[in-house]
Amino acid sequence: MSEPIDLAAFPHDFAWGTATSAYQIEGAVAEDGRGPSIWDTFSHTPGKTDNGDHGDVACDHYHRWPQDISLMKRLNTNAYRMSLAWPRVLPAGSGAVSAVGLDFYDRVIDGLLDAGITPNVTVYHWDLPQALQDRGGWTERDTAEHLAAYASVVAERLGDRVTHWATLNEPLCSGWIGHLEGRMAPGLTDLTAAVRASYHLLLGHGLAAQAIRAAAPGAQVGLVTNHSTVEPAGTRPEDLAAATRMDGHTNRWWLDPVYGRGFPADMRELYAVDLPERPGDLDTMATPLDWHGLNYYFPATVTDDPDGPVPHAREVRLADVPRTGMDWQIDADGLEALLMRLTDEYGVRRLYVTENGSAFPDTVGPDGSVDDPARTRYLEQHLAACARAVRKGAPLAGYYAWSLLDNFEWAYGYDKRFGLVHVDYATQKRTVKTSGRRYADIIRSHRQLWS
Ligand code: IFM
Repeated sequence: MSEPIDLAAFPHDFAWGTATSAYQIEGAVAEDGRGPSIWDTFSHTPGKTDNGDHGDVACDHYHRWPQDISLMKRLNTNAYRMSLAWPRVLPAGSGAVSAVGLDFYDRVIDGLLDAGITPNVTVYHWDLPQALQDRGGWTERDTAEHLAAYASVVAERLGDRVTHWATLNEPLCSGWIGHLEGRMAPGLTDLTAAVRASYHLLLGHGLAAQAIRAAAPGAQVGLVTNHSTVEPAGTRPEDLAAATRMDGHTNRWWLDPVYGRGFPADMRELYAVDLPERPGDLDTMATPLDWHGLNYYFPATVTDDPDGPVPHAREVRLADVPRTGMDWQIDADGLEALLMRLTDEYGVRRLYVTENGSAFPDTVGPDGSVDDPARTRYLEQHLAACARAVRKGAPLAGYYAWSLLDNFEWAYGYDKRFGLVHVDYATQKRTVKTSGRRYADIIRSHRQLWS
């Protein structure tokens, strides 16, 4: 049974979108002068990704983007969140700009606008040029400055047509998963490196936001962060404290500096790593934003884990709860709660759900169709949660489903499929799944309310 969605809650100009990122879909990694990124290096390092998968070809979007824009139209979407590959624009991360690289994005942007689809462009979605990593990557302050220079190049070229910009996607993943847990590029497991990286990512965000505005006056600039609601596993004071620490690690560390509160004191004490602070940095990190993008997938329930890694809080796997193929708990109420937290606690005045979606092991039926009832239900439940948040006052201006296409799911490779559109990687055939058709119906129904 389909979940009722209070579509009348959404404003008439609601952005109905899908989202992707460059390395996950483009392929063509050695074409037209693109330089290597940390994800080329990481994915080609034995043992780092499932099945040794990498993004060399991915969805071949570099060559098939016109077809992919047609798919966006078939889904009735009016918005698309994409990222630019830094090493396609500046193959060595800084210095020489690739005209061919910029031309590619120029064509894609024009194609989207011709199709009536508003691009929302993320400058950095994890594909740091390897040349910058070789000089220390995000652990070095220079990288923040290089990000701003790169942002300036792309805003100058595309800013006459792109109105919506995000500086970073999910700095938590770059900082914590890439430098502390080692499960993502560059694959470090070093708390000092991770804390320094987190600092430079947020500094880079502020510098890039200013650079975009300087190059493209009137640009609507935002930041995309991922969050989870955090609950203690029990009522023990130790578990309550663990939940506070996990909330600091997952949520407050990434939001407080951006909203002018500085880094949370409890977490600074816990990490006990000197921040590479300079006067004025906190003001830069807190550069006022036009919007905030929330990526939401799952909640967290935690217990105290004094001997475990920072933040000494271990996630507890709840029994008898619905889960996706990633083994992530499904909890649409968490999306509502986080939208309200950003609204009430951080005072965000324009919000987008910039990613939300689910992986399931889809199968192609004998007639070539892909029926994905679990993903369809996930989509409906989370849109219903968005509508509830809007009714409670969340200034939600759009929703971008992750993802348009099945794609390269980082360390999990190609087995984890998040698309509303199925991709047969052997042939690159695209097939709209049931969830994609349901999304198109929902969008059509919303438009009818306003026509
Ligand atoms: O595929 C990723 C995306 O790149 C960033 N947010 C989460 C998605 C699903 O894991």
